[in-house]
Amino acid sequence: MIRRKRVAILISGRGSNMKALVEASHAPDYPAEIALVLSNRTSAAGLAFAEAAGIATCVIDHKAHSSRESFDAAIDAKLRSTRIDLIALAGFMRIMTAGFVEAWKDRMINIHPSLLPSYKGLHTHERALADGVKIHGCTSHFVRHEVDAGPIIAQAAVPVLEGDTPESLSARVLLAEHQLYPHALRLVASGRAQVNDERVVISGQSNEPARLINPPLT
Ligand code: GRF
Repeated sequence: MIRRKRVAILISGRGSNMKALVEASHAPDYPAEIALVLSNRTSAAGLAFAEAAGIATCVIDHKAHSSRESFDAAIDAKLRSTRIDLIALAGFMRIMTAGFVEAWKDRMINIHPSLLPSYKGLHTHERALADGVKIHGCTSHFVRHEVDAGPIIAQAAVPVLEGDTPESLSARVLLAEHQLYPHALRLVASGRAQVNDERVVISGQSNEPARLINPPLT
């Protein structure tokens, strides 16, 4: 069997996407194992789940570092000493330096709660509702220095329903995130997702994709 990729998940808070990745990684055929959960905050709720799951955890507090370079160097050293192959950002609320992003190019992925390139940044659900879009969603992508940009690995479309609030829409998108992110990590860790000229090519894709029309035809 091909060696499973060693993944570090970087979190800052709740960690529900981290949990989805950990649970997916328990499948015998999953091509990645979660070798480390790293947080910049001791208070990150997700750390307790990771510890209970028997995963190595580590806190590197950005406030203990005088510069972004020093913070990123500490993270990089930890990742290398843990022999990490891939990084999955999961609600990690720090912007990495260009040097760090370059060092981990095509080996660091993220999940974002919108259909990129629409709604980069924060408050994506509020902004989608304000614009009246009928289809919203989430995106997993390779990380580049520009925030919420980079080659798109996979996206999930989510309908916006009458009467949605930012909270109800966010909850619906989060459920999709929990399906999408393990799928995207599987594609990357197995080598099926490859970056070619800043676009992701997925090998072995043969199924007819489902169509989401909202409001529905009937
Ligand atoms: C998610 O909405 C994710 O898309 C965004 O930050 C949030 C993290 O939530 N990048 P959680 O910590 O995974 O629950």
